[in-house]
Amino acid sequence: MTILAIETSCDETSVAVIRDGVVLSGIVSSQIKLHAEYGGVVPELAAREHLRNLIPVAQSALNAAGISVGQLDAVAATQGPGLPNALLVGFKAAQAVAFTLNKPFIGINHHEAHLYSPWISGTPPVADFSAFQPNVSLIVSGGHTMLVLVESGLKHRVLGGTIDDAAGECFDKTGKLMGLSYPAGPLIDQLAEQGNPAAFDFPRPLLHDASDDFSFSGLKTSVRYFIRDHPALLDDRQKICDLCASVQAAIVEVLVKKTIRAAKRNGVRCVTASGGVTCNRALRHELTRACQREGFTLRLAEKFLCTDNAAMIGILAERKLLANVPLPSLDEEIKPGWVLV
Ligand code: KG4
Ligand code: ZN
Repeated sequence: MTILAIETSCDETSVAVIRDGVVLSGIVSSQIKLHAEYGGVVPELAAREHLRNLIPVAQSALNAAGISVGQLDAVAATQGPGLPNALLVGFKAAQAVAFTLNKPFIGINHHEAHLYSPWISGTPPVADFSAFQPNVSLIVSGGHTMLVLVESGLKHRVLGGTIDDAAGECFDKTGKLMGLSYPAGPLIDQLAEQGNPAAFDFPRPLLHDASDDFSFSGLKTSVRYFIRDHPALLDDRQKICDLCASVQAAIVEVLVKKTIRAAKRNGVRCVTASGGVTCNRALRHELTRACQREGFTLRLAEKFLCTDNAAMIGILAERKLLANVPLPSLDEEIKPGWVLV
């Protein structure tokens, strides 16, 4: 089965071609530079960029895969959650292609797609679900922090989520307080490498709370007050590195400990992680160590699949089509607030 998949939920225009579990091509056009000027994603600009980029990106994906439109068996797109006008661009384009070709169309929940992205690996990337084990999956990005129990191929239950800021948002906002450009997460990752994670003590929000929920806005506020009380710190590069390492250590400790605890509590022996923050080297390292200690299998999404991409949308769409899930009608609408349950 050959599927064209489109993802435009936020600031990445992405198109992939999937055939029988293999990612034949996956093109991502990132808008990071455009939004950096504004310190965050501007929804209207994102939608306009998707409009500008979608056809060239789709053409590149088809060319790279060596597939013509006539060879497609189905079309998939992210239906939600996401920025409404951004979602509309990819979703309506995908429906139009399916309509024209008279092929099945399937709308995908972006977070559900993240759940299965850690099972895609190799060159070319292949989805290997023969290795699948029930797992606890951490989805951690600029907009979301979630723990999900994935019981079997297409069955999951959300255990907890963020009650305020997401972990990526915490990286970006604390970085902004330090004068770092948007998105600050990757810069904090780099600067933290030369810093001391024990230099400054920041709170580990909800670490000992019984729930699987997360909260990062208090950590952001304590960094704000810390910088207000120690303004000279930002003139010293080493101190900035120490600050980055200390903030990162607080975020990573909460993410890792709560993920491992959720896995133990739910009796699974496998942990997976995806989403932009999963690119963070300290998080990858600490999750690896913790899983080794517990004897758990760990599947971290490959870095190019951590950030938003259409390959994961296409892989999940293929699984759903093979499982004969009911197809939505072609006049379905986007679901910007679609909550994974
Ligand atoms: O998944 P993603 O591309 O977009 C969504 O938010 O949906 O994630 C972007 C987020 C940003 O907050 C960015 O700062 C963060 O992921 N991020 C990182 C790293 N790379 C990306 N945070 C920490 N360390 C990184 N290496
Ligand atoms: Zn995402």
